[in-house]
Order: sequence, then C-alpha cells, then structure tokens
Amino acid sequence: MNLTGTEVDALRQAFTAAGYTVDGVAGRLGAQANDALARNETTLAGRRTASGDPLDTMIQLFLLQRLVPKPLVEKAFPGIDLIALGIVSDGGDEVRALLDIRPFAEDDREWWVVADLTPGLDGRREPMRSDYVLGIAPASLSLIHLTVPIKAERALDIGTGCGIQSLHLSDRVNQLVATDVNPRALQLARWTAALNRIDLDVREGSLYEPVRDERFDLIVSNPPYVISPPGGGLTYRETGFAGDAVVEQLVRQAPYHLTDGGWCQLLANWTCVRGEDWQDRIAGWTVDRSAWAVQREQLDPSEYVELWLRDAGLQGSPAYTTRYDEWMRWLEAQSVEAIGMGWITLHNVEGELEAEAWPYEIERPIGPHVLRRFERAEGMPADLTGLHLMLAEDVVQETSGQPGAEDPATIVLRRQCGMRRAEQADTVLAGFVGACDGDLSVGQILAALADLLDRPVQDVYRDYLPEVRRLVVEGFLDY
Ligand SMILES: C[S@@+](CC[C@H](N)C(=O)[O-])C[C@H]1O[C@@H](n2cnc3c(N)ncnc32)[C@H](O)[C@@H]1O
Repeated sequence: MNLTGTEVDALRQAFTAAGYTVDGVAGRLGAQANDALARNETTLAGRRTASGDPLDTMIQLFLLQRLVPKPLVEKAFPGIDLIALGIVSDGGDEVRALLDIRPFAEDDREWWVVADLTPGLDGRREPMRSDYVLGIAPASLSLIHLTVPIKAERALDIGTGCGIQSLHLSDRVNQLVATDVNPRALQLARWTAALNRIDLDVREGSLYEPVRDERFDLIVSNPPYVISPPGGGLTYRETGFAGDAVVEQLVRQAPYHLTDGGWCQLLANWTCVRGEDWQDRIAGWTVDRSAWAVQREQLDPSEYVELWLRDAGLQGSPAYTTRYDEWMRWLEAQSVEAIGMGWITLHNVEGELEAEAWPYEIERPIGPHVLRRFERAEGMPADLTGLHLMLAEDVVQETSGQPGAEDPATIVLRRQCGMRRAEQADTVLAGFVGACDGDLSVGQILAALADLLDRPVQDVYRDYLPEVRRLVVEGFLDY
C-alpha cells in the first residue's frame, strides 16, 4: 500500500508538532536513557516518557515498542488511522507499533525512516521474519560516511532496504533509483521516500537486473554480504549466492552500469582462501579499473560464525550448535581461512586496485578523503620535481629515542584527519617535509638536501621521489 499525499501531510504534521526529531527525542530522554536505548535497553527511557504527551507517545510506541492506550495514539496522530495503515496493531484498548518510524539526522538534514521493529530490545530473543527490513544499522552509517560527496545526475542504491542510502543521497542527485529483491523492503522504502517528499524510483529485482542497459554516476550498496551456507534465510543479509559471489558480481558488473568516471562504493565481506592472496582475489574483480579496497577487520571463521549467529538472535536457542557446526564445516570445505570485512570503491577510469588492511581508527565521514585520495593518486604528474608542495595542516611529527640523544631513533609523521595515516620518516624525508611551504619546488628541495648530504642528486631523487609520491597520495603533502 502506498501513502497518499494527505496521509503524508498528516503524519509529517503530527511528527513535527510533537517535536519527534533526533534532538527532540534526545532532549526528552536525557543522555543516560538515550545511550541506554542505543544499547537496546528501554527501562530508563520508559521512566522518562510517561507524561502521555504526543512526543512521549511516539517514543513509547516506536522506539520502546510499548503498548500505548488508543486515546493517546489518537491524540498524537489526530485524524490519521494508524490501524488502517498497518502502522499499529488492532488490539482493543491498547495498541503497539507494527513498524519502526524514527527520526534520523545527518549534518543539518533530518528525516523519518520507516523499517521493521528493532529486534532484541531488553534482551528479548525474537526470531526474525525472513523478509525482515533492517532499519538504520551501524553498517548503513558506515556506507553513508564512505560515500564520496559528489553531485550526480543519476544514482543507484542496490539493496535499498528501508531507503536510508537513498535518503542520504537525495539532495545531491537528480534521479535516484533504488532496488531490492524484498517486496516488503520496497514498500517501506517507498514510505520512507514519501514521508520525506523524496522522488525515488523504486524497482524490484536482483543486483543490476532492474537497471539493465542503464548507467549511473554513483552506485552505492550495503549488500547482503554475509558468507553463509544455503538456508540462512534472512534476506537482509544473505542471498544464496555462493561464498562472496554477491560482492564479486556487484564489483565485476559495476563498470557496465557506470558512466565514465562514475563511482561504485560497497560494503563487503570476502573470503580469504588457503593458498590465495585476498588482494589478488579482489584485483580479479576490479580488473583494469581504478579501485581501492580497505579491509577494516579480518575474522577467524569461528569468530565470524559467532558474530552472525548472534546477529540472528540464535544465541541460547536449540538450533545454535547445529547451525554453528554446519556453518564451520561449509567454510572448511571451501578452504576459507578467514573472512575480510571492509569496503571497496571503484572509480570507472583505467587504473589498478590498491588493496590494504587498515584496522585503525579513521575520521568520519571518510567519503571526502576517499574522493581526494583518488584525485591525488590519479591526477599526479609522472614527474614530481616541478611541483610546489605544502605540508597539510593536520600533520604532526612524533619523535622517540634515548633521552639526551642528539638525533631521534625514529620519526613518525602522523595525519590527524582522513585515514589518520602514520608514516615513518628518516631525517632526510622529515627535513624535506618540513621544507614544503609551497615556496621551493620538489626538485629544488631535494637538490638542496643532496648538496647538504654530499650525495648525487639523482640518487636522492631515486630514494625519495617514491616516498614523496606516497605522502602526496595520502594527503600529508598537497599541491
Ligand atoms: C544489509 S541490507 C541494506 C539495507 C540498506 N541499504 C542499508 O544501507 O542499511 C541489504 C539489502 O539487500 C537486499 N537484497 C538481498 N538480496 C538482494 C539481491 N540479490 N539484489 C538486491 N538486493 C538484495 C535485502 O533485501 C536488504 O534490503
């Protein structure tokens, strides 16, 4: 069922009048109850929302999943039949929510997102329906923060779920297409779009099927990447594709659906198979495109299985050990030694894959830095000697060594922003970086250092130009 314009207006009016916004909810709950709710604990929030005013009613209904007296719901949503819309149950004097509708804010933008109810509040163990539509999960936010901040004519959100990625893209994309295999997800994505007055072209089908022969400037996907044996049955995280084939297909086919210079960004899990390098595996998918894969975490198969059994709420259930054993045997049969978890960005220009493990803390959003890193790596001239470089403002130098020693034993240059890289430097490189104020060219600084060291300038070029290139790509130095 679609929401009519009148229903959208009435719902928006009710939410706005009640102050059902991220700040409104946080203000009503206070920091402690709000933080507890983020950990799925509703007790403290329940105490603070007992007034019966519309904001408390909405919090109790959607965020705490409490039974609420019907008259209070009617007061909070005047003139709207939430029962007929299927938003609340038809249960006599008290009703409960059948869907989760919650405010969500990013930068200075604010929306309401429609999804299925959050499972596992207050430690409850609840089996999830196979067509469960995920709300705003940590992975959703990771992709939002990874997305390059470009304006695009056309963008594609594959596996849209509740529509969260499309919402995030809506103010910088002219034509937005959202796809999913789950009809329930498509309906909730339509509702999310309608509630926020966003034009969203919602289509049913697997991966690129619904957009055959179409091209986009930006493709984003937080796909159902969980690597599990057949029969997992949760559409929001599993597909029935073998191993990591869902990610492989998304990456391999991306160039056929991207405009020249378009971007495809995915969250992904990949298998690390005995005798195979995971970087080579992904390079086989990106082929001759410019791409960057970052492995944020690598899990042993048993840790991986435990993580996703917990996610499915199976801990403590009779099926837990059987499923654990089946899953492990299935991974062992495919020689999977570990599973990599991270992200892949593909830029549709000729180039190669750079793949690395970077499990350290990064700045969020990282998207602007991802964009600049590609621009620097792809745009740098072959000959760097004529460039006038400037040291980035966020770089600090850390030295360590014996107290009283004349020279430090190690020098580390560390960025405070972006990937928060740290690069070890010798005294020559540290001297070079220190001289980068835009005045002298790279060639002039290296020549002066060669003179100081009494070394042939070509030798200094050979030793230090590759290091300078890396420092530019990683944003320590700008030009
Ligand atoms: C992890 S959820 C992501 C939801 C949302 N985009 C987000 O960022 O939170 C994955 C979504 O992919 C959908 N999906 C599953 N199999 C798919 C397929 N073969 N093609 C397209 N979407 C699929 C699921 O129904 C689910 O909505």
